[in-house]
Amino acid sequence: MTGKVELSMSEIKKNLHRMKSNKFLRDLCSETNFTIAHFVQPLFTSELVDEKEKIEGLKDNFVMNIEDTIRQIDNDINSGVNNFLLFISSKSKSIDSFNLEYHQKVISSIKDRFRHDINLWTDVCLCSLTSHGHCCLFDAKGSIDLDKTLLEISSIALAYAEAGSDIIAPSDMMDGRTLRIRDTLDKSNFSMTPIVSYSTKFSSNFYGPFRNAANSTPSFGDRKQYQLDYRNRSEAIRASIRCAEEGADMLMVKPGMTSIDLIRDIKIKTGLMVGSYQVSGEYAGLCLSEERGLLNLENSLEETWHVMRRAEAQFIITYGARLAKNIGF
Ligand code: PBG
Repeated sequence: MTGKVELSMSEIKKNLHRMKSNKFLRDLCSETNFTIAHFVQPLFTSELVDEKEKIEGLKDNFVMNIEDTIRQIDNDINSGVNNFLLFISSKSKSIDSFNLEYHQKVISSIKDRFRHDINLWTDVCLCSLTSHGHCCLFDAKGSIDLDKTLLEISSIALAYAEAGSDIIAPSDMMDGRTLRIRDTLDKSNFSMTPIVSYSTKFSSNFYGPFRNAANSTPSFGDRKQYQLDYRNRSEAIRASIRCAEEGADMLMVKPGMTSIDLIRDIKIKTGLMVGSYQVSGEYAGLCLSEERGLLNLENSLEETWHVMRRAEAQFIITYGARLAKNIGF
């Protein structure tokens, strides 16, 4: 038989509906599937709290002392989570010389307790250590002192690796940090410790709840001198290429939803896996909307996670990781 097949408009319209007619068909056709193994749960451990403190806007997330952090990890393991991104704040702050004793104690206490049952990522940055809350050190004229900053950042990374951190995650956005950290780790017998760089990190309005929790709000100015401008696409991709060239093992975009268009391009251009960080302001937006009865948190989280995965995120850092198993992952 030859000749043109005539289709009426009504038949054409049914085309996309036909494969959605039952759950099994819909599930069979789902392209983005992932498991609890792809989630990373952030944790905040602080020397400044005795009792665990709620974090405004971040449902089910707390600033904790070491013992409560350990209890929390125990619960989270039961919820299927094995990857944790740790943020540590201590009492002491300085403009140029940092005491990491508490930081090392937090990391080693956690690793002594859980050993290989967890994969412990530590955020490496200066903003919760400096008295001014910036992610860098400044010279006498008030400009970023890159040499000194890189020296400090790489020694923090080494201190964390020595204390038992499984993954080093630099979030400072300083030029050259990945290279310096890699070099420092390699020279100190940590050549097998991966670096997951916050490689495309925008200067964003969505970090507010985090900064309250991590005690890291800058006391003057903002972070626009070193974090990325959200108006720019090519610069955002170049930042990830920079970290890849400097030796990062995996990359990350952040905030998640506002970087959704970049993941695939970064993955193709660098050949590295790229994760997505659903940051505090994004998560808080959903939590607070749920509190006001405007949406269902679990369903909305599931939607955002699938969208990140559809955009080709390999892993997802989210304050809701501990809910993922319940949601069905
Ligand atoms: C530290 C850091 C920040 C976040 C992760 N690491 C804050 C910032 O850069 O101001 C934000 C995470 C979040 O909002 O969930 N540099």
